[in-house]
Amino acid sequence: MFPVQRLRRLRKTDILRKMVRETTLAPQDFIYPMFVVPGKGVKNSISSMPGCFQESIDEAVKTAKEVYSLNIPAIILFGIPENKDEKASDAYKDNGVVQQAIKAIKDFIPELIIITDVCLCEYTSHGHCGIIKNGTIDNDATLEVLALEAVSHARAGADIVAPSDMMDGRVGKIRKSLDEEGFTDVVILSYAAKYASAFYGPFREAAQSVPAFGDRRSYQMDPANRREAIREVALDIEEGADMVIIKPALSYLDIISDVKQSFNVPVAAYNVSGEYSMIKAAAQFGWLNEETVMMEILTSIKRAGADIILSYFAREAARLLQR
Ligand code: PBG
Repeated sequence: MFPVQRLRRLRKTDILRKMVRETTLAPQDFIYPMFVVPGKGVKNSISSMPGCFQESIDEAVKTAKEVYSLNIPAIILFGIPENKDEKASDAYKDNGVVQQAIKAIKDFIPELIIITDVCLCEYTSHGHCGIIKNGTIDNDATLEVLALEAVSHARAGADIVAPSDMMDGRVGKIRKSLDEEGFTDVVILSYAAKYASAFYGPFREAAQSVPAFGDRRSYQMDPANRREAIREVALDIEEGADMVIIKPALSYLDIISDVKQSFNVPVAAYNVSGEYSMIKAAAQFGWLNEETVMMEILTSIKRAGADIILSYFAREAARLLQR
């Protein structure tokens, strides 16, 4: 008790504060998300996500090289296909845009970990994450397509597949299919607790995956639910998930903390597009100091319990950390 206890003693100098710091960030903590499109020499800016681009494979290779040179260990790839249809056929084509991107990046930077987002929303004409039957998203029919997609990513050389569709049973189905095809070493990073969030808005511009009707609330989680996240994570681990993602991150720090305390798998958090855009916008107005706020937010996500952070800030943060 005061005056014997004076917590300010340990805050006196920068070097002392560093010595007693409980949470630190490193480039190795990050996964950088990338959007690949067909074509050559394409680098389209995404208006709501300054600094992020839709890139053709040749450009994506350059970006991936830079990411690796910053000591960021992994990228996650999202594909914007040539054609979209009811069945999401482009999702599992062996010469699809993601499949080709994986091969090209692996050719140049074999060490960089390639994660692929396994979902149908970028590939369906209606923009939903599943196959539609009688006007609703059919869970079990979707599983078949997700498994084909995951296997085709693995065949192209993906190290990790990350199912983000939120259908029930998809992790088990994907694990079984990967194993049957001989991909027993391909890791599953499941978006286990993915909430129906308005923070995905800018991403849907980037990935061109706005649902043509309705919304995703019949498959993504209700933002009001905390205990349900534990059930989702437990099921995914039972079905074979090696690591799990909580998404979004910022409004869900309690969930990250709960999951970290309840399970022993590595926990990732997705610092999503809207969380990125908010800061970029405020910084453009001169309302916030972008660098400081970015580091504060990323630190808070790690402090809550995330071992890994998927973030559009990954490159900027890694650059700062290298200084
Ligand atoms: C695909 C998917 C989404 C995101 C990652 N994977 C969009 C969605 O569910 O609508 C969002 C990522 C972000 O907002 O940064 N299902």
